[in-house]
Amino acid sequence: MKFEKHVFICINQREEGKACCAAKGSEEILNVMKEEIKKRGLNKKIRINKAGCLDMCTKGAAMVVYPEGVWYGNVTLEDVPEIIESHLIANKPVERLIAQ
Ligand code: FES
Repeated sequence: MKFEKHVFICINQREEGKACCAAKGSEEILNVMKEEIKKRGLNKKIRINKAGCLDMCTKGAAMVVYPEGVWYGNVTLEDVPEIIESHLIANKPVERLIAQ
């Protein structure tokens, strides 16, 4: 496998007034996560990708980490370092953010 971990972050924007990840700042979360991975020199091992709707619109920002298939909901910008350090590097999923 090319990447050890693959993170898909929903950046979907739904119609005005409907809950969605874009309205919860998911694009910024995506950009910061990418930068942080690059800063740590992990961009050859860990891939951060944009995703369309992950069907967790009321729990935005939503993301899923493979190969584990761990789903996170209500993620904010402040949670990014913990997801990287704990889950992506130390292999310990961040329990308090697990959704589904
Ligand atoms: S808009 Fe993100 S899960 Fe649907």
